[in-house]
Amino acid sequence: MKKLFAACIILAASALVFTSCGSKSDDSDEDEESSSRSGKKERVEKREKDEDDFRGSKKKTDWIHGEDEMASSAKEEKALSEKLSVGFSQVGAESDWRRASTKSIEDAVAQRPQIELTFSDAMQKQENQIKAIRSFIRKKVDVIAFSPVVSSGFEGILKEAGEAGIPVVLVDRAVDADPSLYVSLVGSDFTEEGRRAARWLIANKPAQDSIKVIELSGTPGSAPAIERQKGFAEIIESTPEIKVVFSQSGNFTRVEGKRVMEAILQTPEGKDFDVLFAHNDDMALGAIEAIRDVGKVPGKDIIISVDGIKDILKAIRDGNANCTVECNPLIGPQLFDVIEKVAKGETVPARIPSIEGVFDNVGGFEVGDGYESVKTTKVTQDIIDGRKY
Ligand code: AHR
Repeated sequence: MKKLFAACIILAASALVFTSCGSKSDDSDEDEESSSRSGKKERVEKREKDEDDFRGSKKKTDWIHGEDEMASSAKEEKALSEKLSVGFSQVGAESDWRRASTKSIEDAVAQRPQIELTFSDAMQKQENQIKAIRSFIRKKVDVIAFSPVVSSGFEGILKEAGEAGIPVVLVDRAVDADPSLYVSLVGSDFTEEGRRAARWLIANKPAQDSIKVIELSGTPGSAPAIERQKGFAEIIESTPEIKVVFSQSGNFTRVEGKRVMEAILQTPEGKDFDVLFAHNDDMALGAIEAIRDVGKVPGKDIIISVDGIKDILKAIRDGNANCTVECNPLIGPQLFDVIEKVAKGETVPARIPSIEGVFDNVGGFEVGDGYESVKTTKVTQDIIDGRKY
């Protein structure tokens, strides 16, 4: 009988374990919730009292330890209960950068059998993201991580996570919320990316009295759109001949980048532009098609963007684009290192920046901030071949 009971417990525990790299809907929460509620509650309480026992798996395994004949099953159940459950909500699949970021997360999980990942794709909608985070809270995952679609409007759900005792790690993008509501932000410095783009422009600007810039911005309200714009504006301010004559969103996609650029090129001011500053490479690549379609020469009209995906490196090599400021999407390993530390109760830095460079077709231009030197790297075939995304 005891044997049967123990087997039932093991079956129930097995049912709790799932590893997913596709979206999971909220509806699947309830069955898991009922059987896991007490164990996870203990975990949360124990985490507060004793960081060493944060994983809180002792109680279940101790109970099975009493049964000699169940030793191997007990080991199995202990292994299961030692898994670290993580809920991750991704922005979407809007760009090559984003797809590389998702792959980096999947690859990092594949290397770490102790992680149970529930992955959810927000399809660039904040409401989907809030729903997903709420479902992670209901599931009582150990750690929540997400890449926020936009900056504002997350305070409420972050408080809900805090009340449930679940630590939150931000990935890639920041939120406009009290920093005590999340433990760390792992990702790029978007303001500095905007500054680097502007410094490159100043070092390479055409010798003329007026330089007209078209800015294709990212998703409205998103941290990279807000911060890249801010950083770029801050640096060009001291060069009065450089003027942003259009600033419109292409939502970080190639299709929208092309469509918006086509419309801008129909206007008298737009068709005489000198420089395109796109907040990501995908929009720049869409815009390059639109520029060609009206008989202009991309690369002669300066094209600057952000990310450093393979396709833009090829465009730079071929002279169809001029500069890309790197934004590193391969943050899966860094993210899970942080998550594992957080789960153990270790202190992690509030901000963990990615290390990034700048690529162009010349090399050697200084685009650092005056304290740290960052020199551009000339795009070569080796760099293109080595690029993973
Ligand atoms: O948050 C990072 C940005 O989001 C990347 O620059 C862009 O390509 C992506 O969609």
